[in-house]
Amino acid sequence: METLILFSTRDGQTREIAAFIARELQENGIDTALLDLHHTERLDWQRYDKVVIGASIRYGHFHPLLASFVKKHAVALNARASAFFSVNLVARKPQKRSPQTNAYTRKFLLDSPWRPDFCSVFAGALRYPRYTWYDRFMIRLIMKMTGGETDTSKEVVYTDWKDVSVFAHEIARLTPKKPVN
Ligand SMILES: Cc1cc2nc3c(=O)[nH]c(=O)nc-3n(C[C@H](O)[C@H](O)[C@H](O)COP(=O)(O)O)c2cc1C
Repeated sequence: METLILFSTRDGQTREIAAFIARELQENGIDTALLDLHHTERLDWQRYDKVVIGASIRYGHFHPLLASFVKKHAVALNARASAFFSVNLVARKPQKRSPQTNAYTRKFLLDSPWRPDFCSVFAGALRYPRYTWYDRFMIRLIMKMTGGETDTSKEVVYTDWKDVSVFAHEIARLTPKKPVN
């Protein structure tokens, strides 16, 4: 059986984190499948005994496909050992980096018919040069208001890879549920 790792990304950081988790699991001898949640028309659930979903925030929201995927596949998700991680810039502040203190994550979990076994929140990346003029302007404004980086020539990765590694090891230790349907 494999561990399915699904990611929902706009600028690529959530894919990077998901790929890092996949590598850590593979190094521990666990077969993994890394898939874009936005391209999962033909998922063969029988292959997977664990599932991980990661998603990023843009202007206060996860991509709407996350909620529709979770609703559509709630039975399959709840039948498996599972974990969720969210990625956003508010989480660059340690006090906003837990599922309880990170408002986006807390709200998602409250509304979700899927009950993952555990969750983490990771700080994402700030990549000013890659944004459109409007996004760069808006993000800079938010950074200014919240005491963050305002130099628009910079790319800053806030992700704590040690935290991601700890999360991957927790996934490795998860006991698969039985029976899987
Ligand atoms: C246009 C835009 C809007 C964003 N809005 C938010 C936000 O509302 N709250 C937040 O904490 N982070 C916000 N971020 C930061 C992203 O969540 C962060 O850059 C993350 O790494 C993006 O992940 P991705 O590359 O997988 O999409 C925003 C980033 C961009 C570019």
